[in-house]
Amino acid sequence: MSRAALLEARGRVALIAGAGGGIGRATLELFEAAGARVVALDLDSAKLPAQSDAVLGIAGDAIDESAVRSAVECAVSRFGRIDFAVNAVGVAGGGVLCSTSLAEWRRVIDINLTSAFLLARECYRSLSRPGGSVVFIASTNARNGGSALSGAAYATAKAGIINLTRYLAREWAPEGLRVNSVMPGPVATPMLARFSLEQRAALVDSVPLKRLAQPAEVAAAIAFLCSQHAQSMSGACVNVSGGLVLD
Ligand SMILES: NC(=O)c1ccc[n+]([C@@H]2O[C@H](COP(=O)([O-])OP(=O)(O)OC[C@H]3O[C@@H](n4cnc5c(N)ncnc54)[C@H](O)[C@@H]3O)[C@@H](O)[C@H]2O)c1
Repeated sequence: MSRAALLEARGRVALIAGAGGGIGRATLELFEAAGARVVALDLDSAKLPAQSDAVLGIAGDAIDESAVRSAVECAVSRFGRIDFAVNAVGVAGGGVLCSTSLAEWRRVIDINLTSAFLLARECYRSLSRPGGSVVFIASTNARNGGSALSGAAYATAKAGIINLTRYLAREWAPEGLRVNSVMPGPVATPMLARFSLEQRAALVDSVPLKRLAQPAEVAAAIAFLCSQHAQSMSGACVNVSGGLVLD
């Protein structure tokens, strides 16, 4: 299936938070190829894409409400609307619960969960109706309990993403807005760089399909959820885990 067949986005506008990361960047590239104009928000300005007529990069913190509000205002003033909002911000934690400081707990919950709340809240008024679509990124850690590899706060935040998705799907459905999430298993992105070769091999081995997902594959699931093919999908969490989670 060509990218255009997956998502027809000419004239549409996407705001992608975490657009400099592995999955965020692949999503940006897919949306751009489908004809969308994209506003890319990331904390790390070095990871932002080159500016063009169709792409506006903004350095900002996705857990700072004024920064998120300002990114939404930039998107609306530059492109006039927001059709798709994608939160690809994230950070892994790590370690057993008893060695997790309160500051680390709050940091990981904020970056992984509060960022989704803020993006959704700040985009709400500017999302096109009907047809506006929001996509969050959960994780298999949300469904299998997680482990000390990513830590309790990460697994808890990702479980929160699944229920925030369900909550908003119901609250916003009367306005024709859809809210979904994707649930990747391990994906070949910079987030895995902290693992040793042995740990990465063990991660691959834990996946029934014996492979890491590629960022473009997760981006394709995100694009599908935003597409005309998913008009009846809201509150869903699309499993992109290679069989790691089976419900
Ligand atoms: N890689 C995996 O194995 C995997 C698996 C399941 C879920 N996920 C989730 O997918 C999403 C994307 O992860 P990725 O693998 O592309 O990771 P990544 O590290 O490549 O990208 C994360 C991006 O978020 C940005 N970021 C972090 N904190 C930010 C903040 N406060 N404000 C703005 N930007 C911020 C980083 O600069 C980075 O560009 C995350 O939510 C992650 O939890 C990843």
